[in-house]
Amino acid sequence: MPDKIEKRIEELREKIRENDYKYYVLSEPSISDFEYDMLVKELEKLEAENPHLITPDSPTQRVGKDLTKEFKPVTHKVPMLSLANTYSEEELFDFDRKVRNGLPSGEKVEYVVEPKIDGASVSLNYVNGILKTAATRGDGTVGEEITANVKTIKSVPLKLKKLKSLKYKLNDFEARGEIFMKVKDFLKLNKEREELGEKLFANPRNSSAGTLKLQDPKVVAKRPLNIFLYMLVSNEEEFETQFNNLKILKELGFNVNKEYTLCKNIDEVLDACRHLEEKRETLEYEIDGAVIKVNSIRQQKILGSIAKSPRWAVAFKFKAKQAFTTLNKITWQVGRTGAVTPVAELEPVFLSGSTISRATLHNFDEITRKDIREGDKVVLEKGGDVIPKVVAVVLGDRKKNSKPVKPPDNCPVCGSKLYKPENEVAYYCDNTECPAQIKGRLEHFAARGAMDIEGLGEALIDLFVEKDFLHTYADIYDLKNRKDDLVAIDRLGEKSVTNLLTSIEESKKQPFEKVLFALGIRYVGAGAARKLADHFLSIDNLMQASEEDISKVHEIGPSISNSVRDFFSNEKNLKIIKRLKDHGLNFSSRKKSTVNSFFTNKTFVLTGTLLKFSRDEASEKIISLGGKVSSSVSKKTDYVLAGENAGSKLDKAKSLGINVLNEEEFLELLKEK
Ligand code: IVH
Repeated sequence: MPDKIEKRIEELREKIRENDYKYYVLSEPSISDFEYDMLVKELEKLEAENPHLITPDSPTQRVGKDLTKEFKPVTHKVPMLSLANTYSEEELFDFDRKVRNGLPSGEKVEYVVEPKIDGASVSLNYVNGILKTAATRGDGTVGEEITANVKTIKSVPLKLKKLKSLKYKLNDFEARGEIFMKVKDFLKLNKEREELGEKLFANPRNSSAGTLKLQDPKVVAKRPLNIFLYMLVSNEEEFETQFNNLKILKELGFNVNKEYTLCKNIDEVLDACRHLEEKRETLEYEIDGAVIKVNSIRQQKILGSIAKSPRWAVAFKFKAKQAFTTLNKITWQVGRTGAVTPVAELEPVFLSGSTISRATLHNFDEITRKDIREGDKVVLEKGGDVIPKVVAVVLGDRKKNSKPVKPPDNCPVCGSKLYKPENEVAYYCDNTECPAQIKGRLEHFAARGAMDIEGLGEALIDLFVEKDFLHTYADIYDLKNRKDDLVAIDRLGEKSVTNLLTSIEESKKQPFEKVLFALGIRYVGAGAARKLADHFLSIDNLMQASEEDISKVHEIGPSISNSVRDFFSNEKNLKIIKRLKDHGLNFSSRKKSTVNSFFTNKTFVLTGTLLKFSRDEASEKIISLGGKVSSSVSKKTDYVLAGENAGSKLDKAKSLGINVLNEEEFLELLKEK
């Protein structure tokens, strides 16, 4: 009898596995949902009656009950490299030349071209055909274990199919690939989140990466994650070609992207890249380029890698995605400093994962330079991600009666006359009591990077200002005395008010440099605030300092020192600071790191787009370890940390022979300290 049960259990598992494969990998379901559910129910019942027969690769074990408390470090068997980027045909020809120069003369080189999936990379370790661990890329050497979350993805096999050929030893290997969301699934998820009032994801990539780091696998299981595998790694087997490896991955039951091409030479590679770029719009998932890999694994080994990228592969990045739409109107928005900026109100259009209906036009000069007019057909682009910009006007489609726009004479919010300082491009509203400025100051104060008051966003601030609960940021800390008034507001329940008041109290722990930044002194961004806080150590010191003292601080120029003096000579501001002090905010710094580290007294310049952390976070780290961060490259610079699309600063660093670090190398240094 037990034997029979064991047999039936294995039979059910096999059937469920096969159907998961057909449904999630091949997209060709062969039985009805009802039949499938019956199989799962029967298996669940038998396993419940015979718990000793449960194995980790059973389809019932995809969704774990336990929360992941911490994502443990996992060392990759072979480092997970990243790819150098190319943007033009010339750069691809260059890559090909370097590949051929790196190989014995006369060797033929074939390439495989694959789509570059815009998701989150993972490495799956299988031992004896069973999924053992799944890990993020991390810094390339050590990633984080996300097995419980990855197991919930139905296109990830928990148990592999057998290969027909017995040639390959695959007892312990890693399959690498990209976890992603289809665009339509991502849009649906965001729509649901919008209805629930939850924060929206910026694009499918962030949505996938964010989901993989959730602590509850049950929530992950409900998210529409998917996977494509593109690399086979093993220390115990010599493989022949990338082309063949993709076939092996497919045969093992993995989801392998179909859009790959074997190319005999670089001309064929170019054709394949162009073909993929054309196909891009029709794909169900986002790709941001093509990956070109030397096909022969033997040749890959000869070529090896430099720093963190292989010499045998390269990414060819596609141009930023563009969309066309009509610019219905140009409106003017008043910021916290009174600067009045033009905003393009657009006919809603979909671009790279989100619907865009507004884009900043920066300033009036920009409108004149690009000759942007109301009613124009415009070209939009999303650089990197998130913030859309109007890159050009389709002049051929311009309406005959269109006229150039003029900047407003009066503030669109409070009506006061606008002025334009001579050496600036912006127009300003001079009325510090303008409701738009009041709201802007409060928003800036509460924002992440400043006091970081969770829950106090734009909508609530608008409401509180209109109800006269808030006027200056010191009022935020008095909100606790009017809890009843807050709870009485329709939209706010007792619970959300309590949460808000807790995060307001929590914000009092923010360090001095954040408080100084939050004050919103003109020209004092996060970086300048940090430098001032580091130098003067307390607000009292800073308030007593002369303009000259302030401008002596490294990299603090005359406009900042002038604006700081202005701010502190205003009675109103002094009163607010006094109230904030009474509320217990931090107005002095703790001592700087005294431990000697690699970073001690070294000057860093950060440039380009960093992907793993923000520039702010990187600066904070450097400073907390005793280093300095400067905004311009000079002979005194010790290191330049260069992200993607780094420009003139990187060129200057190279010409001065300054050490340049990429993100991975920087992370390595942090680890070594
Ligand atoms: S191969 C050494 N192939 O792009 C080879 N990567 O920086 C490295 N990616 O981290 C990876 N699609 O997350 C490879 N078909 C593909 C890819 C791909 C997307 C990602 C991967 C990697 C990054 C490159």
